[in-house]
Amino acid sequence: MSQARVLSLVGLAVFAVAAVAYAQTTVTPIPDKEPVQTAPLNAGPQSKWGDVKAGATKAGTCAACHGLDGNPTDPQYPRLAGQSERYIAHQIALFKSGERNTGMSAAMKPFADALSEQDARDLGAYFATQKSGAGVADDTVIATGPNKDKKFYQVGEDLFRRGDKARGIPACMACHGPGGAGNPGPAYPHLAGQQAAYSQRRLEEYRAGTTTQRDPHLFNVMAGVAKQLTDEEIGSLASYLQGLHERADDIAAAGAPAPAAKPAAAPAPAQPAAPAEAPKPAAAPAAPAKG
Ligand code: HEC
Ligand code: HEC
Repeated sequence: MSQARVLSLVGLAVFAVAAVAYAQTTVTPIPDKEPVQTAPLNAGPQSKWGDVKAGATKAGTCAACHGLDGNPTDPQYPRLAGQSERYIAHQIALFKSGERNTGMSAAMKPFADALSEQDARDLGAYFATQKSGAGVADDTVIATGPNKDKKFYQVGEDLFRRGDKARGIPACMACHGPGGAGNPGPAYPHLAGQQAAYSQRRLEEYRAGTTTQRDPHLFNVMAGVAKQLTDEEIGSLASYLQGLHERADDIAAAGAPAPAAKPAAAPAPAQPAAPAEAPKPAAAPAAPAKG
């Protein structure tokens, strides 16, 4: 099996194209997405915004599985580095109440039980400040089936960027961001670099469509997205996400110029060129993949 690192330069390409166009035309801001209705956080009303330092001192208990900085070495545990305070606190509350009990939740539950609402938010704030690492994506060429001749991760890449209009699957990046950074406001989780085995498990749970959460609002958002995914697509999405590096890191690492510079100066991505169009909201997925 061969492997590849997947760079995410979509955002950079969009910015560069936009900057050139705007230099000669009237500036029309890209409209913001419709606000998404989200359930109130049941992390608890007594807590206040998490404290990074306090979280760092409490994170020692999590290290054996999630790594001290939230980057685990064992592939079965999820990466927490770069995940938002709000999302982490919410998930801990769900483990604690027993509402999140699928997959490998039994391993996590005793640790959630030991945390107060404020502990959960402090830990969330700490992991949110940690730099997420990433793994590698599988670029083995697919031998048979509807995706024959594509590299394995490219099936997921297409869905991530463009969705599949014919089947009503929105582009993942419409909510999770072009670089997979997530969106802390509506609690769309950070996905870039997430361990493939974990993402696969989660996508299978969403596809199955049932949860014991009392307020399944957010679960149902993902269940709607995942219900039509095939096994191959789920495996490929998980592999793509594992290899997805956040673009800010990549640009810094490559020593690239600021986005306002000539587009040609941008480092060449390690995969086919990014679509030169802005991400569209979930309701109106971008056009299907190149003819
Ligand atoms: C014994 C191993 C273990 C320890 C120690 C542990 N966890 Fe976990 N944790 C897990 C497993 C396994 C999962 C994934 C559960 C599943 O399959 O859905 C998980 C999931 C999570 C998630 C959800 C991640 C997501 O993306 O939804 C959060 C948040 C979390 N753990 C936080 C913590 C914190 C904070 C600590 C320390 C106080 C901790 N964990 C300690 C095993 C552990
Ligand atoms: C309409 C917005 C939206 C779209 C589009 C979307 N997601 Fe999500 N995603 C969410 C929300 C909200 C959650 C949190 C659900 C929960 O609380 O269980 C989530 C959670 C996830 C998780 C679990 C993360 C974790 O740490 O446990 C994965 C994996 C995921 N999404 C992958 C995808 C993929 C792959 C696609 C595209 C096929 C996609 N998402 C499209 C909103 C979206």
